[in-house]
Amino acid sequence: MTPVPPEQTDPGRTVPGGTVSGGSADTRTGLPAGRPDMRTFDAADVEATRRLMYGLVVPRPIAWVTTVDAAGTVNLAPFSFFTVVSTRPAMMGLAITPDHTSEVHKDTWRNLDTGGELVIHSVSEANAAAMHASSRPLPRERSEVRELGLATAPSDLVAPPRLVDADSALECRVETRLRPGQEEFFVVRVLRAHVSGALSDEVGHIDIAALDPVARVGRHYAHLAEQYRLG
Ligand SMILES: Cc1cc2nc3c(=O)[nH]c(=O)nc-3n(C[C@H](O)[C@H](O)[C@H](O)COP(=O)(O)O)c2cc1C
Repeated sequence: MTPVPPEQTDPGRTVPGGTVSGGSADTRTGLPAGRPDMRTFDAADVEATRRLMYGLVVPRPIAWVTTVDAAGTVNLAPFSFFTVVSTRPAMMGLAITPDHTSEVHKDTWRNLDTGGELVIHSVSEANAAAMHASSRPLPRERSEVRELGLATAPSDLVAPPRLVDADSALECRVETRLRPGQEEFFVVRVLRAHVSGALSDEVGHIDIAALDPVARVGRHYAHLAEQYRLG
């Protein structure tokens, strides 16, 4: 591949709302890239960039999270800014947005502040409606688990209980936290995992088609499409 001299690169035009760019040079030919459809957004356009991330980082897995407060009230909420951040030791990360409608942080954030423990569940189609309903704000002293009539069982190692009807439950403890921007990013260590025997083998392989996880795509939800191999 021949590198493109900087003078052949047209940075395009950026105006509020995003524009059709002038088009960068094609790195293979050095000629104009031939993509007049490309829009360019500057990160200074905070809302558009947020929308872009929301729509481009898809599909996102959903962490359905139980936590408890000091009074023992069980909180349940979904989070899709969620991923694996370490495999040895096993750690996951989730980002919680400040609650702009309130003086205080979301219940999950506050419970992680005080208790530092959580259980992360997977979401299948059977639980999708309950998961979505659990995202609605409730007064702190009311439990989404109780209001939605969901059954729980005690966890082995952490205070928050697990949801009986979820196909997997990861007992976790907060390891560290970061504040790169407005979100608080919690890195949590997986202490123990429970997975339905119908979905996993003895060494931990998951039957992903059987798991049928519900994914967040923009403001909507999706199933995974068919799986295929490359190579
Ligand atoms: C599918 C889905 C994914 C969500 N992902 C996030 C997320 O990653 N971070 C976040 O702060 N809020 C997220 N929310 C919103 C929270 O679930 C919502 O603010 C909830 O009321 C927080 O509950 P809590 O105050 O009980 O912790 C999501 C909502 C839905 C429906």
